Amino acid sequence: MRSLTDLRRQAAEKALTHVESGMIIGLGSGSTMGDVFFPLLAERIRTGVIKDVRLVPSSRQIEFKILEEGLEAASFNQIEYVDVTIDSADILERESLTAIKGGGGAMLLEKVLSSVSRKMILVLDERKIVDKVPPGFPIPVEVLQNLALLVKKRVEKALGVNVKIRTGSGKVGPVITDSGNAIIDVPLPENRSLDWMDDFFKNTPGILENGIFKGVVSYAYVGTSSGVLELKGRR
Ligand code: A5P
Repeated sequence: MRSLTDLRRQAAEKALTHVESGMIIGLGSGSTMGDVFFPLLAERIRTGVIKDVRLVPSSRQIEFKILEEGLEAASFNQIEYVDVTIDSADILERESLTAIKGGGGAMLLEKVLSSVSRKMILVLDERKIVDKVPPGFPIPVEVLQNLALLVKKRVEKALGVNVKIRTGSGKVGPVITDSGNAIIDVPLPENRSLDWMDDFFKNTPGILENGIFKGVVSYAYVGTSSGVLELKGRR
C-alpha cells in the first residue's frame, strides 16, 4: 500500500510538467506544497533543470522554504501576473473542480495568487476527492481580527450553524494569519450551495475572503493507488 506522501509525490511530478524555465511561479501553502511539491521544484532549480524562475509564495511557510533554499521570494507588489500557480486543497469536487482551501490558513493570499495566475494546477491525493462537498465540511473564512466575534455571531444567526474561531497550538487565543487577521471555520449548512455561501460571505462586512475556489482550476492531479488521475478544468 502506497503512503500518502507517495500519492502526493506522483501527482506533484505531473504538476511539474507545467513549470518551465523563465516562468513566474505562484506557490500555494500546506503540507502537500511544503513537504512534497516544493522540495521537488527546489531540486530541479538546484540542478539547473529549471532556470530563471521567479517564485511568489502565498504564506510565510512557503516564503521561508524558498529562502532556506537560498532562492529569492518575489512579493505580490513586484509582479503583475503569474504564469502558473501550483497549490493543493482541503477537498475538491470531481466534476465542478470547486475546491475548499484554507485548512492551513493561507486562503486569502492563495486567492489573490489564483486571481493573477494564467493557470492554476492542484496537487492532491485521492482522500480529498468527492462528488459534492458534504454538509458540515468547514469552510475557512478570514475576518478582521477585531470583528471576529461579531462576524461569528452574525454568521451563526444567519445560517443556523455552529461557527468556530480557529485556535491553534503554541499560542493562546485565535490563530492570526500572515496578514494579521483571524479565521472562522463555518460548517457548510445542509440546505446551502457553495455558490450561495460564496455570495453570502462576499456580502458580509468584516469578512475579507473565504476558502471556496470555483472556476479557477486548470488541471488537478490526483495521486491514487492505481496511478495519477488528471482532471481538467475550464480555465
Ligand atoms: C492552505 O491554506 C490551504 O489552502 C492548503 O492548500 C490546503 O489546506 C491543503 O493543505 P494540505 O496539503 O496540508 O492538505
